[in-house]
Amino acid sequence: MRFQPLTVAEVRKTTRDAVVVTFDPAPGFEFRAGQYLTFRRLFEGVEVRRSYSICAAPGEALQVGIKRVDGGAFSTWANEALAPGDRIDAMLPMGRFTPEIEPNTGKHTLLIAVGSGITPVLSIAQALLQAGGRVTLLYGNRAVNTIMFQTELDDLKSRFLTRLAVVHVLKQDAQDIPLFTGRLDGAKLDALFAAWVQIDTVDEAFLCGPESMMDVAVERLVAHGLPPERIQTERFVGTQTGRLPQITRATVAAKPTEVTLRLDGAAHVVTMERDQSLLEAALENAIDAPYACKAGVCSTCMCRVVEGEVEMVQNHALEDDEVAHGYVLSCQAYPLSDRVVVDYDVGH
Ligand SMILES: Cc1cc2nc3c(=O)[nH]c(=O)nc-3n(C[C@H](O)[C@H](O)[C@H](O)COP(=O)(O)OP(=O)(O)OC[C@H]3O[C@@H](n4cnc5c(N)ncnc54)[C@H](O)[C@@H]3O)c2cc1C
Ligand code: FES
Repeated sequence: MRFQPLTVAEVRKTTRDAVVVTFDPAPGFEFRAGQYLTFRRLFEGVEVRRSYSICAAPGEALQVGIKRVDGGAFSTWANEALAPGDRIDAMLPMGRFTPEIEPNTGKHTLLIAVGSGITPVLSIAQALLQAGGRVTLLYGNRAVNTIMFQTELDDLKSRFLTRLAVVHVLKQDAQDIPLFTGRLDGAKLDALFAAWVQIDTVDEAFLCGPESMMDVAVERLVAHGLPPERIQTERFVGTQTGRLPQITRATVAAKPTEVTLRLDGAAHVVTMERDQSLLEAALENAIDAPYACKAGVCSTCMCRVVEGEVEMVQNHALEDDEVAHGYVLSCQAYPLSDRVVVDYDVGH
């Protein structure tokens, strides 16, 4: 079964517009630092699926942080109505925004988060610190009262005094050190890298926040000498083109194509139009293919092309070597050849 019910144990406000939701333990929901859960719920008869990163450290109670988005269906409901005892359908933890946890290597990891981007970053920080690593966190927020997980960060700071450095950068509130006031933009990062974080001591970096911040931060990190393959990013929304350029799908032929979808040990053969994504074809044929964002961001719908050719129009989730090995995001993949065989079972 792809979705399993989780029971809410606690809903706690962490700022005025964000809640931390803790769930009762459930079999199979073990997770790696930085992974996310995907929930589904009906809103006025329409199924909505939304992903939320786990903020807890592996081995601790399953916990997510949900920030209210203005006019947002799921996040508003979670902030206003979700209560202890409620049951909610969730997929098992997924995602590859996860560090290798190697005990006592003394590795130095730089974490950069803005706003709700702190959620997976907090999980990663805890896991790395517990394993003996060194962590520097640059955390951008509008003001002191919008800092999610302030208490948890303070607790971590006192537990790992010598191995954790936290720099809060606040857009509105003035701080003792002028460098810490303003936006986490290119100029601010350059100044922080010059004065506070020596990039040549950083082994790896994990970034989560608005797309504009992450693009600039990756660029500045690379400019300061950190190789791109040691930088990982997690995107919450898919509004920009990813690693692959947006492909103009002018070559789409009128002829339908035959696609075999291998899923949960069964092979489903469907005939589909070439202007449909593989995921759309699966869902239209009542095949329970996994998905969450439908925007090429989360990788839930990943499968491997075993035969034939497809084109992927957006990719914010797969690494270049995965694409080279035939992995695609089925929500973004359109058939090019007359026959295509894809396997979901090797994707996860
Ligand atoms: C892998 C992954 C992990 C995520 N982890 C978290 C997390 O830990 N915490 C968290 O709070 N959110 C997280 N998100 C975002 C979350 O899944 C939802 O997109 C978000 O809560 C909005 O959903 P909604 O149903 O409330 O809004 P919707 O009804 O989908 O959208 C309402 C409006 O807000 C805009 N919008 C949608 N999403 C965002 C956004 N994230 N920021 C700004 N505007 C937006 C839309 O364009 C629309 O105009 C994650 C997303 C992904 C893909
Ligand atoms: S469903 Fe999220 S990448 Fe396809």
